[in-house]
Amino acid sequence: MKDIHNIVILTGAGISAESGIPVFRSETGLWEEHRVEDVATYEGFLRDRTLVHNFYNGMRRKLSGVKPNEAHKALTRLQNEWKNGKVSIITQNIDNLHEAAGSIDVIHMHGELMKVSCEKCHRVFDWDRDSSVDTVCPSCGRKAIRPHIVWFGETPYDMDMIYALLSEVDLFISIGTSGVVYPAAGFARLAKGRGAFNIEFNLEQSATAGYFDTGIYGKAGTTLPEFVDALIRHGDLSFLNESK
Ligand code: APR
Repeated sequence: MKDIHNIVILTGAGISAESGIPVFRSETGLWEEHRVEDVATYEGFLRDRTLVHNFYNGMRRKLSGVKPNEAHKALTRLQNEWKNGKVSIITQNIDNLHEAAGSIDVIHMHGELMKVSCEKCHRVFDWDRDSSVDTVCPSCGRKAIRPHIVWFGETPYDMDMIYALLSEVDLFISIGTSGVVYPAAGFARLAKGRGAFNIEFNLEQSATAGYFDTGIYGKAGTTLPEFVDALIRHGDLSFLNESK
């Protein structure tokens, strides 16, 4: 097994599930009583801006009582204690639980619930309160505020940075994502192409399990801290062979 320097981590809704945030693709999924087309597309926003503002207002309010779990904390520990290279976290999640756990430079490719942006001047603002059609942009003064969320059909943020990270990755770890939403679902294949060792953490095999060298199945809040502990102690993945 080759030496590990740079580690790239991709997280999805499953890492926040044990904090009490429901995942998307489940019977009681995050979209709640709404159709995805209504609350997660720009067309939906054009049809009913108030509905969309209120949908994200509701999610933002709920987030204030939510705490990071052991899986988020394990990634922070890995960032702090991994000395052989860089540990980069890319998340599809719009919650702020990686930051709440102390992780740094987290790439939120699908946007952030605790931010809004202006459709006119394109500035982005930290936002911990409600927004509405009447909210005035703090920068240009126009009523053009929208949730800072990447909706279906829109381009995820920071893709150049993400592709650069994937071009120098030695260990790619995917946690709690079903692997059905692109481009994130394609990262494992890119990492493999670069020669990385790929590991997925999930309750079950994801749709892209074929691109992973191994899978660790169970709740990430339990499996991830054990894995991170072993990875830091060994400095490589030799412990995976030992435990077989
Ligand atoms: N530990 C590990 N994995 C878990 C846990 C857990 N405790 N709980 C659930 N999972 C797994 C599920 O098995 C599932 O594969 O997390 C995954 C969650 O999948 P999705 O709900 O599809 O979430 P995600 O992959 O993040 O969705 C991707 O789709 O709707 C869009 O923009 C939204 O960012 C989101 C994107």
